[in-house]
Amino acid sequence: MKVLRSPRTLISWRRRLDRDGITVGMVPTMGALHAGHRALIRKARLACDALVVSLFVNPKQFGPREDFARYPRSFTHDATMCRQEGVDLLYAPSLEAMYPAGHQTSVTVREVSARWEGAVRPHHFGGVVTVVAKLLSAARPDIAFFGQKDFQQTVVIKRLVTDLNLDVTVRVCPTVREADGLALSSRNIYLSPGERRVAPRLYAALQAGRAAMHRGMTSGAEVTRAMKTILAREPLVTVDYLAVCDPMTLEPLRVVRRSAVLLGAIRLGNVRLIDNILVGR
Ligand code: PAJ
Repeated sequence: MKVLRSPRTLISWRRRLDRDGITVGMVPTMGALHAGHRALIRKARLACDALVVSLFVNPKQFGPREDFARYPRSFTHDATMCRQEGVDLLYAPSLEAMYPAGHQTSVTVREVSARWEGAVRPHHFGGVVTVVAKLLSAARPDIAFFGQKDFQQTVVIKRLVTDLNLDVTVRVCPTVREADGLALSSRNIYLSPGERRVAPRLYAALQAGRAAMHRGMTSGAEVTRAMKTILAREPLVTVDYLAVCDPMTLEPLRVVRRSAVLLGAIRLGNVRLIDNILVGR
């Protein structure tokens, strides 16, 4: 496995593959790789000839009071996982290589970034799309793989790809969970044992919403209430939002006709957890 540290070297690596007509897959990450990332890497490995995993903790997507400085970093563990999974290239640029002095361009996706996560974390998606635009334009993958775990992120990135005519297919892969339903996340290690015990209730709330829909409930407000009831019993939990939305626009649905995405975000102490379920009718 090759390790490259700058956009220039990544661009040259990619250009050499052009001549061979090889399909390239990319899995963008911020490292601290867990079984959710591993599942994405495996999907990508099967789908593409050459596979790039990027590992970059992107300061632009963290707010001033968020956890950039203490975000878990584990390069040796991450590189070992990538090697085991047959990754061809680990792209791990330095901060200076990604954002050299004088850097002043950023990309914004407007409406679909503004609500839910964007309302709580106003600079977050600007940072995400700027770095993803840089990663995709340097690596030029045929397929880029993202997790459904970050549902709004996938919607925002699809918008970016459409609006900038990027020549890449965005593939969204299912959320990997612990046995008790908690979605895997690099931030789960911050949970205290007591918080860890109640963390799966977020997924339980989303499941209650889905069950209500399957019973025939069509009012978005009522489905939301069914989800809120589950978390109202948990004194450690603060709900940021629970919502029933259109999966394309992320606008809240007053009436659920066909499909919906149930989105949830809670705080447990200092830890924020997000999750979602897609429901078809
Ligand atoms: P990160 O949080 O490291 O996640 C990298 C990818 O792994 C994302 O597509 C995310 O949705 C996916 N992922 C995380 N947990 C998962 C789980 N439990 N099951 C399935 N997939 C999961 O998301 C980012 O990094 C960044 O915002 C990034 C896109 C790399 C831009 O900096």
